[in-house]
Amino acid sequence: MNNGDVSQGRRRFLIGATAAVGGVGVVGAAVPFVASWNPSAKAEAAGAPVTVNISKIEPGQQITVEWRGKPVWVIRRTPEMLENIVKLNDRVKDPQSEEPQQPDYAGDVYRSIKPEFVVLVGICTHLGCVPTYRPEVAPADLGDEWLGGLFCPCHGSRFDMAGRVHSAQPAPLNLEVPPYRYDDDATLTIGLDPEAA
Ligand code: FES
Repeated sequence: MNNGDVSQGRRRFLIGATAAVGGVGVVGAAVPFVASWNPSAKAEAAGAPVTVNISKIEPGQQITVEWRGKPVWVIRRTPEMLENIVKLNDRVKDPQSEEPQQPDYAGDVYRSIKPEFVVLVGICTHLGCVPTYRPEVAPADLGDEWLGGLFCPCHGSRFDMAGRVHSAQPAPLNLEVPPYRYDDDATLTIGLDPEAA
């Protein structure tokens, strides 16, 4: 190896070292960005409010949105459905929503801010299955007493069209009503109380 080879080899090393330092510099600059991005992404996944346009929901229809990783239902109830809720008052465990399964502004028999639309977390209060929407009255498989509601396929818990659990069911509590508010007549935000800014 002559001197020329040595100096050429050293130059290659220096170029490589500079590139490595440059690489470290890039990584170092990237870390603060990642660190500042992650918390907001986590916050969004954990609990950011979800805005829903309810203007296209037909009477009797249920839609599902995701909030905090859970299914949340918005159901547009017909006048007949609202009448049937009242008829079930003596066949449900907590007719007046006295258990803390809903915000104060969504209490009483209808469990909603406006009777027409109910918002429910679609998770059974027994062991966490997702109930199915069964709005029909007296279908063959649920019997003559069924006036429409939500039916949990796991262990058979029955809920009415306000998410109130029928008496003598495995589920101990009514379905949860999440915090929500009306931004205007056609828009709900799930995850914010009405008085929130
Ligand atoms: S999980 Fe719904 S009845 Fe058991």
